[in-house]
Amino acid sequence: MKTRKIMPILLLAVCLVISACGGGSKNSGTGGGGDNKPASTNASQGSETPNEPTPPAGKKIVLGFAQVGAESGWRTANTESIKEAAAAAGIELKFSDAQQKQENQIKAIRSFIQQKVDVIAFSPVVESGWETVLQEAKEAGIPVILTDRAIDSEDESLYVSFIGSDFVEEGRRAGRWLLEQFKDATEPVNIVELQGTTGSAPAIDRKAGFEEVIKENPNLKIIASQTGDFTRAKGKEVMQSFLQAHKDIDVLYAHNDDMGLGAIQAIEAAGLVPGKDIIIITVDAVRDGMQAAADGKINFIVECNPLLGPQLMDAVKAVVEGKEVPKRIVTEEGTFTSEEAKAALPDRKY
Ligand code: AHR
Repeated sequence: MKTRKIMPILLLAVCLVISACGGGSKNSGTGGGGDNKPASTNASQGSETPNEPTPPAGKKIVLGFAQVGAESGWRTANTESIKEAAAAAGIELKFSDAQQKQENQIKAIRSFIQQKVDVIAFSPVVESGWETVLQEAKEAGIPVILTDRAIDSEDESLYVSFIGSDFVEEGRRAGRWLLEQFKDATEPVNIVELQGTTGSAPAIDRKAGFEEVIKENPNLKIIASQTGDFTRAKGKEVMQSFLQAHKDIDVLYAHNDDMGLGAIQAIEAAGLVPGKDIIIITVDAVRDGMQAAADGKINFIVECNPLLGPQLMDAVKAVVEGKEVPKRIVTEEGTFTSEEAKAALPDRKY
């Protein structure tokens, strides 16, 4: 009698425990030990075990996001986009700011692994040196999405998807505009370049794309090139040293608006007119950059869209639901002359 009464209670308890563990213990343990990893994640991250989606219905998806820092207007807009999109999608966001240091990002990723988040996303400060920590995420069964910047690893199983711009194409766009402006030049055109953070994907690729195009005209010469770390302060400082070292600068190519804006301060302080005495090309098209373009201080801006939040949240949900996510999602972008910037400014979102 006693046993008959207890059995249904025991069965119910066992069921509850199974369903609670089944949903909540997402991807703990090591090396594709089954768990509850999403099917598509397993497919793209190289595990063989097809699984139920995690987390279970009703439980919030937890996303760990390791941001580069707050070095530029672009980055601020990107952070806002990610926070807003996570809130709108009902995703719990664990946000970490690495202050432009790779070791901080690695620490943040390890902490997300320990906390057993559902998905990790990050924008790598630099391209190389990620294999070990991403292998740890893979072994913990946590899918990783790269946003904004890529890594240079051959092992594509370390991440599910990369959402962001084509930085080489951005560099080419800057180069094509310059090529056209100076197509009739018969004398050397002296270019100085403010590079982004050394070793970062946008610095490497924007340089490569620009050089690839301008080499068509041997008059276009980069006479000095140095990092300004994507910040306004560094852009100003490096431009000051360029101006001291070179009396004959015709063009400044800055890998982002902020460095260009810092350089404008240095150019004005040197008694020169930005946009006239020195032609200025930048990348990003954030509000301050667009304003400077509308004012004629920047001649040409190549757009780099920071509003990646909604696309990232869609990808996070798809991964958790076990849907296929494209390995590469390229952001659509344009370019702005001064006139175009003036027209676009009133509706600019960032
Ligand atoms: O990775 C995108 C780049 O990072 C932006 O162009 C720059 O402004 C930012 O700091």
